[in-house]
Amino acid sequence: MAKDVIIACDFATAENTLLFLDNFKDKKPYVKIGMELFYSEGPSIVKEIKARGHKIFLDLKLHDIPNTVKKAMAVLSKLDIDMVNLHAGGTVNMMKAALEGLTREDGSRPLLIAVTQLTSTTEDDMKHDLLIDRPLTEVVMEYAHNASVAGLDGVVCSPLEAKAVHKKCGEDFLTVTPGVRFAGGDTQDQKRVMTPKAASEEGSDYIVVGRPITQAQNPVEAYERCMKDFLGQ
Ligand code: C5P
Repeated sequence: MAKDVIIACDFATAENTLLFLDNFKDKKPYVKIGMELFYSEGPSIVKEIKARGHKIFLDLKLHDIPNTVKKAMAVLSKLDIDMVNLHAGGTVNMMKAALEGLTREDGSRPLLIAVTQLTSTTEDDMKHDLLIDRPLTEVVMEYAHNASVAGLDGVVCSPLEAKAVHKKCGEDFLTVTPGVRFAGGDTQDQKRVMTPKAASEEGSDYIVVGRPITQAQNPVEAYERCMKDFLGQ
């Protein structure tokens, strides 16, 4: 199983993103592109980063009727990205349609990962706004199970949930985990954090790390430290 560190490139413009990526001369890291950058710069930023030799996780969290998601995924698949995601709350049918849309003529496709419940959603929000009167962790596990039944490759979750997700959905079902910080580092707005090493021990397959690398004085050194800690090399 390929474990890797994914850098969250949460920059507002292509210029700032490419300036940041210019730091990486040798190994080209796996990068995550989110809504802000994609909506401001469009597919061209994905093509440019891909052409520079990076793997790309396109974090657009699709959620719509199955037919619309299927067609949107078919378009994204042509961008030659490596990973993309959607909301498991869109139902098993939507997730199955997404997989169909994502699969290229030659049978290849990017990895498809589900968001279960956003970490910004509390149990109280779920109960009062979403009318889901169940413990949050139970909902996360059930949504992860739905994603695996639909044939998806994994979920975005906290490293704290990675072990339980693997137990419920299988060792090969991927856990992509944000909320990672170096020991003693600034946690910023993340509430529950883990070091790369601890996340690895909990079974995270991919860690998504943003500010500890993007805002480091020496981003390449921070990335290499993160890789070493996570991969135990
Ligand atoms: O800078 P930081 O390491 O906190 O960045 C984490 C990245 O992972 C951000 O792009 C954030 O939006 C994303 N993310 C998260 N928690 C989730 C889902 C995504 O932090 N539950």
